[in-house]
Amino acid sequence: MTQFYKKCDKYLRMGEATLLKKTGLYPYFHQITGEQNPVVQMDDNKVIMLGSNNYLGMTSHPKVKEAAQQAIEEFGVGTTGSRLLNGTMNIHVELEERLAKFFGTEDCLVFSTGMQANLGAISAMLSEKDEWVLSDQQNHASIIDGIKLGRMDRSNKKIYNHNDMEDLERCLQEIPKDKGLIVTDGVFSMEGDIVKLDELADLAEDYGAGIYIDDAHAVGVIGPYGRGTAAHFDLVDKVGITMGTFSKSFATIGGYIAGSKAVCNWLKHKARSFIFSASPPPANCATVLAILDIIEKDETLRKNVLSVAHKMREELIDIGYNVGDSSSAIIPLIVGERRRTMKFFKELFNHKPIGIFSNPVVYPATPKGRALMRTSYIATMTDETVNDAIHIFEDVGKKMKIL
Ligand SMILES: Cc1ncc(COP(=O)(O)O)c(C=O)c1O
Repeated sequence: MTQFYKKCDKYLRMGEATLLKKTGLYPYFHQITGEQNPVVQMDDNKVIMLGSNNYLGMTSHPKVKEAAQQAIEEFGVGTTGSRLLNGTMNIHVELEERLAKFFGTEDCLVFSTGMQANLGAISAMLSEKDEWVLSDQQNHASIIDGIKLGRMDRSNKKIYNHNDMEDLERCLQEIPKDKGLIVTDGVFSMEGDIVKLDELADLAEDYGAGIYIDDAHAVGVIGPYGRGTAAHFDLVDKVGITMGTFSKSFATIGGYIAGSKAVCNWLKHKARSFIFSASPPPANCATVLAILDIIEKDETLRKNVLSVAHKMREELIDIGYNVGDSSSAIIPLIVGERRRTMKFFKELFNHKPIGIFSNPVVYPATPKGRALMRTSYIATMTDETVNDAIHIFEDVGKKMKIL
């Protein structure tokens, strides 16, 4: 057998996933039946959904579903090609114009996923040997991989301690002026804390660095009307490049970069994941347009999700959980040890008559020894669901002696 098949075979027999399955603690690939609402049927369990990124509850909104259906009727189901060639439809351009207007940027470029937006945009920005990147230690995997694809010198990379502006400044002092790109999540995906953008923007100005924000978990949730991190800090003019995704508040799949005309034009012609991959289906674009129609006018859903998360955070702290520095719609319950976190998942998931689905997050997605249960909230959650979730966390936490 060749090396390639051998390693797969070995992983199937004794890899970590298989070993975890043998202990009954494997937490992945549970099947959902029906729509992604606040309470879902998953395998044989009825569970409260605290593991989605459906912050505004838009996956089931009647107007949004109708818009997606209409787009299928009008444009068909797919584009079969890259934006550069046959894959640009007028709905892609309409969406880019609407997003640029929403975010207050000159231009916007739509990619097929958020992962592709980061891979393509970060690597295309880091195109010269003498350029540098400064990346937060807890940035998303797609940022880490985008940096790996950059053409700058391999050693031109500084990873600074998480949201630590002193450490970022130390790193900036070690690189040539005007050559660095600071890349950070806006709302950090695992712990739900917000980048200290005011301090970061001052540093960027002092050292002539560019700012690239991944706003996947911020859009729809923070900033006026959900316009994201830069708007939250009133610093839209200081952030050169903002990346986002349609796979969370926008309830579908796709990604974008918002920035200046020059940056978007550069990426249009240099970002390989944009050029060499088919464009997103028209129904995805229509979904985002319909959601923009709703959130541009009305802040109710954004306020709801923040108030649900606020209530949960207060109650979880009250019953004794360590919830880190979260201040968004994501709340981590920090458990520490990997196996215990997996067991915690299982107990929550199997709780009767109703359980909780949430995401156990372990190294390398979190630092070693900081395994956590990532919980996230939906604007359409009722008080009853929130109260049920609190009781389940209290029950299971006590049973497992986490509390
Ligand atoms: C912070 C962050 N960036 C980028 C992505 C990738 O987005 P997408 O799901 O659109 O590929 C995600 C999704 O998990 C994310 O959490």
